[in-house]
Parts: sequence; structure tokens; C-alpha cells
Amino acid sequence: MTTFTTVEPFERPAIVMDCGTGFTKMGFAGNSEPSFVEPTAVSFGTSKPHSQAGLASAADADVLIGYEATSSSTSDAHYPVRHGLVENWDHMERFWQQAVHRYLRVDSEDYNFILTEPPLNPPENREMAAEIMFETFNVPGLCIGIQAVLALYSAFTAAEKGPKSVRGKMTGTVIDSGAGCTHVIPVSDGYVIGSAIHSIPIAGRDITRLVQQLMRERGEPVPGDLSMEVAQQIKEQHCYTCGDVVKEFGKYDADPEKHARSHSFFDPRQGCRQTCSVQHERFLGPELFFRPDFISSDYTTPLPQMVDRAIQSCPIDTRRGLYSNIVLSGGSTMFKDFGRRVQRDIQRAVSARQAPGGKAVEVHVASHAMQRYAVWFGGSVLGMMPEFASLCKTRAEYEECGPSICRASAAFRDELF
Ligand SMILES: Nc1ncnc2c1ncn2[C@@H]1O[C@H](COP(=O)(O)OP(=O)(O)OP(=O)(O)O)[C@@H](O)[C@H]1O
Ligand SMILES: [Mg+2]
Repeated sequence: MTTFTTVEPFERPAIVMDCGTGFTKMGFAGNSEPSFVEPTAVSFGTSKPHSQAGLASAADADVLIGYEATSSSTSDAHYPVRHGLVENWDHMERFWQQAVHRYLRVDSEDYNFILTEPPLNPPENREMAAEIMFETFNVPGLCIGIQAVLALYSAFTAAEKGPKSVRGKMTGTVIDSGAGCTHVIPVSDGYVIGSAIHSIPIAGRDITRLVQQLMRERGEPVPGDLSMEVAQQIKEQHCYTCGDVVKEFGKYDADPEKHARSHSFFDPRQGCRQTCSVQHERFLGPELFFRPDFISSDYTTPLPQMVDRAIQSCPIDTRRGLYSNIVLSGGSTMFKDFGRRVQRDIQRAVSARQAPGGKAVEVHVASHAMQRYAVWFGGSVLGMMPEFASLCKTRAEYEECGPSICRASAAFRDELF
């Protein structure tokens, strides 16, 4: 892992926690990668011994989080975040306790914390997070950053070595797609254009389910209790975005050997590795973003059309900048050629509207090195910026005014958020 230093760091780096529906990314500001990426899961059974020492208290002795919770055979895992929003605060607090004390192994009183939130997070959630952080964890400072804006930071920082077209701009449209939700968020000069945010009810878990269903229908030899896990592995390792589904089917029919893949997975009951074949689900899984009607009759708008719609609902003088810097963020944007397809489809829609002789609007979708953990990395960048101190709510402010200090999100009015 590399550490970058663009500005004078604070005495201690802030801790950045991006708790997503599927995974929590946690680590120290200034680093290029999170120290831990663990499922946002917590379980309360007695099970296997902990791999790391330093339990917070005896009461926490049976609390497991992350992969330890999901692989625990003696208790059920609970997932405190659903569709990007914290649904169970007690479980979230227990998760944070373990994350801070057993994983990051720090004293929370010594570190400022950066948490992340999806756009349109209810103000009550921000207050609740503030209450837990200041009262239970006694943190000296807390900053709650909007995921999309952090993702934009990420892309800008990554672009310092990348294409000139996105360098130094704080205007862009973020497509953030994780396990449980997908959002399209236009940001102009660092401000979220709140009225133009669009949510899409298709994300990583839906694609995994589709892959699982296609494998099951074909009768691939994957045990039922492993089928979700194997489908996720297949999705992450073999799926890609195609340009045209009909043509892609034709290619597979013409030469199935060339396009099918063999996937091996460990079957704990047999104690050995098994294999299965991966076929059309390679491109049909990610196609869900472009043809949501595959699985839903309620939601049928393709992602590129949603992005176009979001930008069209922004003030006219911002649109050109928003089209020219569409930034990808989150695990479900990692499919090969995803950005190319999104760019092509948006460009087609934009060009079709173009008045003859008018100045062409250029659509550019930026893939970048930090895309997988873009939100976390944006938090890491933020924690090293001189402005960070002024964005942090301090313990003194909390003691004076209470949780309401975090009620409003600065993202919709502040220079940086
Ligand atoms: N290389 C990859 N290709 C495709 N999908 C991937 C890849 N790597 C991870 N994913 C998927 O990305 C999702 C997790 O992404 P991410 O960590 O951004 O989500 P999250 O923050 O937990 O969820 P959310 O933002 O929706 O609350 C999972 O569904 C995972 O299977
Ligand atoms: Mg996320």
C-alpha cells in the first residue's frame, strides 16, 4: 500500500469508514487503500476463536463482524445496512465497536472519524451516527461525507496522472453502484444538485441473483447452499458488459467453446474443489443495468437513460460539464467495458437530440484506478486536506449543541460538500 502526502497531515490521520450494504471499507486517511474490506455483517453467537487479539470487553467476546460473522456456523449474520441506509443502529454500533477495537486497533478518542452516507440520507440518521460517535466512541471530531462527492474527489485525485479532460474539475456526474443501491448524482462546483439525484433499484446483489438463477436453470452442478456465493464469484471474475446482446448470443452459438468459461469453487462438504461452466450469464448479468425489464416490470429504465435524465434535470449551464465528466464508483461498475457501454448509450441519446449545426455535446465516462473503493479513497483524500479541520464537527460543538450539529449536510451548501 502506498501513502500519499499532498498536504501537511494532521497529527494523526483520520479514520475513514465507508459502511456499505455489502462491504465496509475501513482504514486511515492518507492511504491509497482501505486497511480492511469486510462484509457489513455482525453476529452474536459463540463460535470459533478470534483471529485477532484486543477485545473491547468481555461483553463483546461473542460478537463477530465481517467475514468472521458471515462464515460463522453457529449464529446468523445480521446486516445493519440495507439499500445503503443504516436500519439497525444497535447492530451498527456493535459493528463499529469491533471494527475500531479489533480490526483498526485504535483508541477512538484519539482519532477524527470520517463516515460516509448515501445521498438523501435522512437527517435523523446523521444525528444518530453523531450521537453514537460522540457519546459511545468519544471521538474528537466527526465528518459525514456524501458518498458521491467523495467518489468525485477520488476521480480527481486519480486523474492527476490520468487524462487531462477531467483534471482539476469539481463538476461531474457520479454513478455509484454497490451491492444494494445505484445512484446517479450530479455535482456542480462541489455542490450536489439535490433535485437531480436519481436512484436505481438495480445493483450488485440483483446481478448475483440473476447469475445464480441462470446457472440453476441450466442445471450447473453447484450445491444449493453455495449457489449465491459461487454466483458472486462468477459475477466478479467472469462477467463483462457487451455492446449488443443479440450479437453476443450469436457469438456464443457460433463458438461456445471459445466464450464459455470453467469456474472452480471449493465445496466444504466434499472437501475439494468442484467446477461448473459459465456461459451466457457472463454478459446477461451486467445487462441488467441496460435491460432492467429482464427481472422487473415495475422498473424498466436503462441506466444510461437515467443518467441522461438526471443531467437534463440540472440547470442548463451545468449540463455540458456534467456530460463531459461522468465518474464511476463502487464494485458494480467494475465489469469490463461497463464505462464504454454507458458512454456510448448516453452519447447516442444526446446526439439524437442535437440540433443540426449546433455545438456537439461530448459525453465522457471516466474509469479510474480508484474506482472499486472510490468512496473510501475520497474520504482518505479529504482527511488529508487542510479544509478537513473546518468540515469536522468537534466534540466541543457536540457538547454545546447536541446531535443537531450533524442534522444538515454541508454537501448541499458548503464549498467542498
Ligand atoms: N470486479 C467486480 N466486478 C463486478 N462486481 C464486483 C466486483 N468486485 C465487487 N463487485 C460487487 O460490488 C458489490 C460491492 O460493491 P461496494 O463495496 O461498492 O458496495 P457497498 O458499498 O457495500 O454497497 P452500497 O454502496 O450499495 O451500499 C458487490 O455486489 C460485489 O459482488
Ligand atoms: Mg457503497
